[in-house]
Amino acid sequence: MNELNVVVDSAKVAFEKALTPADLENAKALFLGKSGRITELMKGLAALPVDEKKSRGAAINLAKQAIETALNNRRQALADAELQIQLQAEALDVTLPGRQRGQGGLHPVSITLERIEAIFGSMGFEVAQGPEIETDWFNFTALNTPEDHPARSMHDTFYVEGGSAAAPNLLRTHTSPMQIRHAVQHVKRHRADAEQAGEGLFSGSMPEIRVIAPGRTYRVDSDATHSPMFHQCEGLWVGENISFKDLKFVFTDFCRTFFESDDLVLRFRPSFFPFTEPSAEIDIQFQSGPLSGRWLEVAGSGQVHPNVIRNMGLDPEKYIGFAFGMGPDRLTMLRYGVNDLRLFFDGDIRFLSQFQ
Ligand code: PHE
Repeated sequence: MNELNVVVDSAKVAFEKALTPADLENAKALFLGKSGRITELMKGLAALPVDEKKSRGAAINLAKQAIETALNNRRQALADAELQIQLQAEALDVTLPGRQRGQGGLHPVSITLERIEAIFGSMGFEVAQGPEIETDWFNFTALNTPEDHPARSMHDTFYVEGGSAAAPNLLRTHTSPMQIRHAVQHVKRHRADAEQAGEGLFSGSMPEIRVIAPGRTYRVDSDATHSPMFHQCEGLWVGENISFKDLKFVFTDFCRTFFESDDLVLRFRPSFFPFTEPSAEIDIQFQSGPLSGRWLEVAGSGQVHPNVIRNMGLDPEKYIGFAFGMGPDRLTMLRYGVNDLRLFFDGDIRFLSQFQ
């Protein structure tokens, strides 16, 4: 074996031994670098006679090409190996089940609110929305609950900035302020229609006020059946001849439709609210099923107090009506058999997904 073959073979061995691209480049320097073996051999050519120079030069070139080929092969092999390692590390198991995007859905209380709106909508009630930050006037005073009225203590709430020191703004404790807000707008609109703009209480002719106002309400209260934020839905029907019997009919019809059961009786239990006179709590009782035999309170109600009718801008000699305020959270608990109100507001997907 001639000397050049030995150089080529030792280059091949050195390249094979290199396990990383950096090792390989170091090995390359030993043969093709500035003072590498091939470079040294080339330098030796100068000392040879002309006729030998040619054949020797050609032979060295062949050896150099062989080394370069071996180098390139090894480079490729190392790159391939690296790619394999990377591919293995990033391997995708296409047989694994895909990650599903969770399917969103309505909150159970939202489902109830939609049902309430649909049922009262079918009875000709409008749906109104009002602010959660209320003034003292709309939340209390306009509802016949003056500043020193003891009923205010039943509505311990969160006071916020704004309003006056004597009457700060607050998070509304009930949806009843919407009775006034909605009625005032309604009266304004129809007063303008009747071109009676201006003074005094309205006693002209006016389409009835028939509205529900669902929304969030707040009280300082927290246990299994009370949450500091809860929902209410106000109902108001005011006209020239709306009586307690209409309240009984409307609310009975609502409950039977909501619970999809005629097997349900209502009880109007005398109560007190400053803004209604007479007033009643509405209890329901299922005649069959797991809740049968117990009276369950679902709403407060009553005939709108003349002072409230007056604060609506209406003449109480002419206009009369009823109002109720019910608890959609409570209705949702009864409909689905949920026993802890807090579950609705914890945001636990395992609970919420059961309603989809
Ligand atoms: N606003 C009362 C409450 O929060 C309920 C109610 C509404 C009572 C309308 C009578 C009329 O308890």
